[in-house]
Amino acid sequence: MPGLTIIGSGHHVPGPAYTNDDLARVMDTSDEWIRPRSGIAERHFAEEGQGVSKIALPAAQRAIESAGITPRDVDYIIFGTMTPDFILPGSGGLLGAELGLEGVPALDIRQQCAFFPFALQVADSLMTAGVAETILVVGANAHAGFMPWDWKALREGAVSDEEAYRFATQHRQTAVLFGDGAGAVLCRPHPRRAEGHGLIGTLTRTDGVRHDHFFIPAGGFTHYRYWEVPVDERIPSMRGRELFKCAVQRLPAVVRELCERHGVALDDIDWFLAHQANDRINGAVVQSLGVPPEKAPSNIARFGNTSDATIPILVDELRRDGKLKEGQLLCFLGLGAGLHWGAALMRL
Ligand code: ACO
Repeated sequence: MPGLTIIGSGHHVPGPAYTNDDLARVMDTSDEWIRPRSGIAERHFAEEGQGVSKIALPAAQRAIESAGITPRDVDYIIFGTMTPDFILPGSGGLLGAELGLEGVPALDIRQQCAFFPFALQVADSLMTAGVAETILVVGANAHAGFMPWDWKALREGAVSDEEAYRFATQHRQTAVLFGDGAGAVLCRPHPRRAEGHGLIGTLTRTDGVRHDHFFIPAGGFTHYRYWEVPVDERIPSMRGRELFKCAVQRLPAVVRELCERHGVALDDIDWFLAHQANDRINGAVVQSLGVPPEKAPSNIARFGNTSDATIPILVDELRRDGKLKEGQLLCFLGLGAGLHWGAALMRL
């Protein structure tokens, strides 16, 4: 392991915040339902036509600036999104173009909410193989594209008409959870890696049997004339309760196994930087691990679930607040559609 570390970070969320009460104008939901079940109070959404690479750009620029380097120093991009600008090509290359990085390889990975541990694993492996040394890791999402409500009514503070309201309500379980945003980190080998600093280890898992716990049934290429699909099948389908159970069982298990492999005591970890899908999930995970909840910071109230972006946004907020200090031990963890899940340990 080259002991990868984070030398810069940035994040960006588009447009104004929409509260739970705003959503209650366009579908049958309420703050009383959403907040206690998830911890979410508000979220942001991409503008029509904005696309995820455009949301990612300011986050990437801030990460590059905070690392004190220039875009030309980046020699690889790892991009994670479940809402790409196009079905093809991937969005990493589009971000590279926005940054003026023609010729720099850009790899899109499809791990959704488990993006960050997988991305660190890939970045570290690229460094070990001598392929790249300064890697821009960006998670970003523009879920707005699949939101089922009447956008005009939402944006203008109006109440939507009956048919639009009914359609949106059919998809309310998923729609209230997600928000848009981007988080970026710049990775390089830690200068003191020989003394045990930097990435210590990663452990990732996939269970494709449960791919239907969160997926978009149509729009792929399993069918001829793939574009001729019922509209409801293009909106994500989620088995919320099953996902919840998988997360609260599998995340503590993967963290324990990773710590055992590397001889790390759970008590020695300073921060558990968990994917922000639901405050109740993270509460149950830290309880199961027997660690104090204040070691697992949350920002889901302000952003909702930004999927691939949640952990890098959290990292950026903590770095900018001066809370991440040299020598601290971090544990990153996340589970998402796939199912994919994993954890990573890093000594700053
Ligand atoms: N507003 C109001 N009522 C609602 C809403 C809503 N937005 N959504 C569902 N309901 C209703 C349901 O219709 C149901 O009503 P009924 O009892 O009359 O049938 C009732 O509320 C209870 O619904 P449940 O789905 O059973 O609610 P639950 O308490 O399980 O909470 C939730 C649902 C918040 C989705 C929870 O299961 C969860 O957080 N699961 C994990 C989700 C997750 O992690 N998603 C990440 C996706 S993974 C990725 O990679 C992107």
